[in-house]
Amino acid sequence: MKEHGVIIIAIDGPAGSGKTTIATGLAKRLGLAKVDTGAIYRAAAFLAQRLRVDFEDEDALAELAARMRTSLRVDGETRKYLLDGEDVTEKIRRPEVSAAASKLSAWPKVRAMLLDLQRELALNSGTKGAVLEGRDIGTVVFPDADVKLFLTASAEERARRRFQELKGKGLDVEWEQVAADQAARDEQDSSRPVAPLAPAKDATVFDSTGMEVEEVLDGLEKLVKGRIQEM
Ligand code: DC
Repeated sequence: MKEHGVIIIAIDGPAGSGKTTIATGLAKRLGLAKVDTGAIYRAAAFLAQRLRVDFEDEDALAELAARMRTSLRVDGETRKYLLDGEDVTEKIRRPEVSAAASKLSAWPKVRAMLLDLQRELALNSGTKGAVLEGRDIGTVVFPDADVKLFLTASAEERARRRFQELKGKGLDVEWEQVAADQAARDEQDSSRPVAPLAPAKDATVFDSTGMEVEEVLDGLEKLVKGRIQEM
């Protein structure tokens, strides 16, 4: 619990690596809040699409991100994302928003605008700490996090998980398209010059290929509790 006064657990990893499921499960088991930083980028991308902001215009996107800081609310109980009161929880998970979020998040000025919001949500959650999931939590958002995990799984398994998730929501998606979208997003998220997706030097890399969710959670809960006790 370094200088923050609360426990900060960073979970980074590529799309479909199971970050959301694992961060949610760990937060529940440990009595911590969960902060989904991808949802913040998604909300900004959703808003930019709706307002027809040019995705090549970094300044316009950064301005929109700055304004969004006051209009985005996360309902602590229902975990719903509200933009000026409108529930956008499901809308921001659609495939076209995934691609747009990846594009928008490559702009350094946009990332800078959204940094404080991510930190505030974690530090002011009203609990003894937070589990944050994203791409650069352990490297940029909280470089001094108490525990840093980097989750991964094979590209095929990650695409399969995303395909099942989208199908489960009743979306009419093709396997080939989901796999191609994911490969494009992996490439974009990993190759951007600012805060690219990469494990922090002191992160524990965990490959969940072929593992059941409960198995991953049991292993990570043990690891995190061990680290926290050492503090
Ligand atoms: O985790 P996700 O799939 O919901 O994230 C959507 C996009 O947002 C992802 O393609 C990259 C970006 N993102 C980021 O750049 N940094 C984060 N900390 C979280 C997400």
